[in-house]
Amino acid sequence: MMEYYQLGVSVIFAVIAVYIFTGSRWRTLYILHRTLPRDIIGAFRFLKVNLLLWYWEKRGFTVARLFTRQAEINPNKIAFIFENQNWTYGVLDKFTNRISRYFRTQPMSRGDSMALLMENRPEYIGTWLGLSKAGFVTALVNTNLRKEVLIHSITAANCKSIIFGGEFKDAIAEIKNKLPDLALYQWTEDSSISVLDGAVDLNKAITQVSDDPVEVDLSLGCPRDKLIYIYTSGTTGMPKAAVISNLRYMLVSCGVYYMLGLRKTDRIYDSLPLYHSAGGIVGAGQALCIGITVVLRRKFSVSKFWTDCIQYECTVAQYIGEICRFLLTVPPSPNDTAHKIRLMYGNGLRPQIWEAFKNRFNIEQIGEFYGATEGNSNLVNIDNTVGAVGFMPKYVGRLYPVGLLRFDDETGEPIRNKDGLCILCKPGETGIFVGKINPKKAVNDFSGYANKEESEKKIIYNVFKKGDRVFNSGDILVMDDMGYFYFKDRRGDTFRWKGENVATAEIEAVISNILSLMDSVVYGVEVPGHEGKAGMVAIYDPQSSLNLHEFAEGLKKTLPVYARPLFVRVLSELPLTGTFKLKKSDLQKDGFNIEKISDPIYLLDKSGNYVRFTEQLHRELKEEKLRL
Ligand SMILES: *[C@@H]1O[C@H](CO)[C@@H](O)[C@H](O)[C@H]1NC(C)=O
Ligand SMILES: *[C@@H]1O[C@H](CO)[C@@H](O)[C@H](O)[C@H]1NC(C)=O
Repeated sequence: MMEYYQLGVSVIFAVIAVYIFTGSRWRTLYILHRTLPRDIIGAFRFLKVNLLLWYWEKRGFTVARLFTRQAEINPNKIAFIFENQNWTYGVLDKFTNRISRYFRTQPMSRGDSMALLMENRPEYIGTWLGLSKAGFVTALVNTNLRKEVLIHSITAANCKSIIFGGEFKDAIAEIKNKLPDLALYQWTEDSSISVLDGAVDLNKAITQVSDDPVEVDLSLGCPRDKLIYIYTSGTTGMPKAAVISNLRYMLVSCGVYYMLGLRKTDRIYDSLPLYHSAGGIVGAGQALCIGITVVLRRKFSVSKFWTDCIQYECTVAQYIGEICRFLLTVPPSPNDTAHKIRLMYGNGLRPQIWEAFKNRFNIEQIGEFYGATEGNSNLVNIDNTVGAVGFMPKYVGRLYPVGLLRFDDETGEPIRNKDGLCILCKPGETGIFVGKINPKKAVNDFSGYANKEESEKKIIYNVFKKGDRVFNSGDILVMDDMGYFYFKDRRGDTFRWKGENVATAEIEAVISNILSLMDSVVYGVEVPGHEGKAGMVAIYDPQSSLNLHEFAEGLKKTLPVYARPLFVRVLSELPLTGTFKLKKSDLQKDGFNIEKISDPIYLLDKSGNYVRFTEQLHRELKEEKLRL
């Protein structure tokens, strides 16, 4: 067994280390003992990722070519399972050939982008893959968008045309007059839905072309060419289209495969939206690039999660954001442990519920990872350490080009030393996570956004030495003395009140414990005549079971005065974004304006109790007569 061998090596290293390091010998020995097996296994897997990627790039592989190769070797293996359909590699390949051949006959030029707006289903992947075979770049539009934001997304990526599922016919009808030059193609799953006026019936169109393989034009199908655009939402502003090159798609797919120890015989449950990188790359990429069967679902469902995993015999499942917490709120059932899931991987599992989740659903391994869609550096938790988003080798950390920079709380800018360079954090200090940009290495390149100015904003210059560049993730992390990273906050998700910084994620975690896993979101709101922002929490309480007195008592015990939310908004409906996060920006915009919102609002009074926020209080606050 490789792992035992590695353990042996680590012990030998550890013994040698005792002689080398003079000060704090025992701590050093302990850290080595804890981290060396991890670092060796990690380095070994990382090497495999880099070798394979190097090979793929050298041989000119693109995602489409990797997929076609799978289809040639294993035409009858199932690539995707969806509802009661089995999509083999052979069948999906033929579908992509039809899409590709058809769109080559359309009036578009190489490298043009097309928008795709469709519910999850195998044709979704087949469509963008087919377009990439034809030399087009697909912009994967968030299916929750309507009107102005939908228009913005289409134009931000310069799309000349859009392919939409029949289920979004009305959404397209609403905007088509504002984009008169946009060519429309409707793909209809349900034949009872008629085709929108002015749109091409794609179902019919593609049956009229052959499903024979297309001649891939070598000049376009390069590993570093653009493959798709994925929009990153962010808490404020309009969606930004991040460029995903073939190489990046392959890197993420193969990175997850090797770093988390997936197997070709696994079956992965992917219930996440395919327009996001989690569902569309981290999940679907395992089928396209590696050859693992992936089970897709039209929409994530709390009640169907384990039932599906059992029915489709999945061995691995994906999560994102709050999914794990949603699953914990369902009453226990024998199906909680009747599945064969050994590994769940994803991003955003809160440390507070980590062990409860693992234990209740009997999950052997949690593969939490960290990495922005558009970012150039990633972290992965490969050894099941509770709460960690990943690690960096302790003693050769400099080889992995990421770091935490000290920053100014007020401005968010990195702090610089007298030479004008940035300062790395010590273990235990929170800092901004950055990744060095190295265009020569696929792993560390930054492809940016469709919009060049937006890309520039994410780059910091002169960081470790003059002339270098790093990608600024905007996320605040902390590293412990063993090299494990823990997620703290996203910049913009902190606010200042009474001169103190309040990290919303921390407050949410505390509230989640007090309210036994009710959904809540914390944000700062401006109050006339007050510096900074007052804390506000929106709590989802469909059953009216919230006891504000107990809530206030719970807060008193756990949070300092400045961090306790001054306002509570009780929600009867849950505004979710596509990533299953409560929609913070909208809530923040509403604030405590009771003229605009009908939900009940409560205010924390001086005695530490919540009182109903009335029109009179609202007026006093606006006229600056009320001090908080
Ligand atoms: C799909 O494949 C499974 C075996 O993996 C089989 O049991 C099932 O009947 C197939 N479904 C269809 C509709 O062909
Ligand atoms: C448990 O899973 C099985 C198989 O998928 C399903 O038929 C059954 O309805 C589930 N039971 C509950 C209580 O969800």
